[in-house]
Amino acid sequence: MTDLAIRTRALTKRFRRHAAVDGIDLVVPRGSVYGFLGPNGSGKTTTIRVLLGLAGATDGEVEVLGRPMPTDLRAVLPRVGALVEGPAFYPFLSGASNLRRFDAADAGASRRSRDARVAQALDRVGLSNAAGKKVRAYSLGMKQRLGIAASLLRPRDLLVLDEPTNGLDPQGTREVRSLVRSLAADGTTVFVSSHLLAEVEQICSHIGVMSAGRLVAQGTLDELGGAGGSRVRVTTPDGADAARVLTGLGLGAPDVTADAVVAAVPVQLNGSAPAPEDVVAALVAGGVRVRGFTVEHDSLEDRFVALTGEGFDVVR
Ligand SMILES: Nc1ncnc2c1ncn2[C@@H]1O[C@H](COP(=O)(O)OP(=O)(O)O)[C@@H](O)[C@H]1O
Ligand SMILES: [Mg+2]
Repeated sequence: MTDLAIRTRALTKRFRRHAAVDGIDLVVPRGSVYGFLGPNGSGKTTTIRVLLGLAGATDGEVEVLGRPMPTDLRAVLPRVGALVEGPAFYPFLSGASNLRRFDAADAGASRRSRDARVAQALDRVGLSNAAGKKVRAYSLGMKQRLGIAASLLRPRDLLVLDEPTNGLDPQGTREVRSLVRSLAADGTTVFVSSHLLAEVEQICSHIGVMSAGRLVAQGTLDELGGAGGSRVRVTTPDGADAARVLTGLGLGAPDVTADAVVAAVPVQLNGSAPAPEDVVAALVAGGVRVRGFTVEHDSLEDRFVALTGEGFDVVR
């Protein structure tokens, strides 16, 4: 038994000669909410399809819930809920009727307890009140939650959601986000893809960043957020003197303009970066007329733009 929900080694998926997924090593701890982040076309859906056994890998290994895939597919899949393409619902049937149809398609589900399972799944996603309403009257957020309900007709250890908030309005996005949070609070591991950093940042404990088929960063939100650089910005007419003092303190590559100097704070492994107040004191002692002093940190977004060479749509 491993404490990983998903593990891949050098996973590769090629379409003809193009590697849509190029040697990725995913490490998804059990109990995590793992944000699988990357711009459109970076290989997220292809990876997810391979994880679920919907497509075969060209190369590499996949383990889901501690078992090799696709070898143990039949044992693994009942424990995994997935929402990959928006599920097809009959618009003229109610939410509950649609779920009953999904449940009926599951050979292992007893007919007797069907209504109870459906009611429980609807309750889980907050749709009990809309159970009898026709799906065509559902909002997009409600439809997406119904899709998640369909994946929750059985108890699951792992939930895989491919861009579950794509196309949703802010209200629908909030609904799905809070649902993911509450599922995670129940102990379900959630692997959720997105091209929206802001979204993943709010719900995830772990992040993996895809860029052109490669996994370019992976870790806890804290590890990735904290790994960014920071800079000091000194507003002063004495640029050359300020640059000298900053260099003397070990700050890197001062950029001098007419009224300011910006220098990088070195990444400290032993925590001995100079404190801001010491930098200011040294500047003043060095005869620099300091008009302003700020420490600027790279945001997680700056990091991702640097990693993927691409901006994420933050607001859309
Ligand atoms: N069935 C397929 N045949 C050929 N190329 C594909 C196929 N599916 C995906 N691709 C290509 O693989 C790359 C990754 O696509 P995808 O996994 O859908 O990215 P994402 O989900 O991150 O937007 C893209 O270049 C896409 O065009
Ligand atoms: Mg996709």
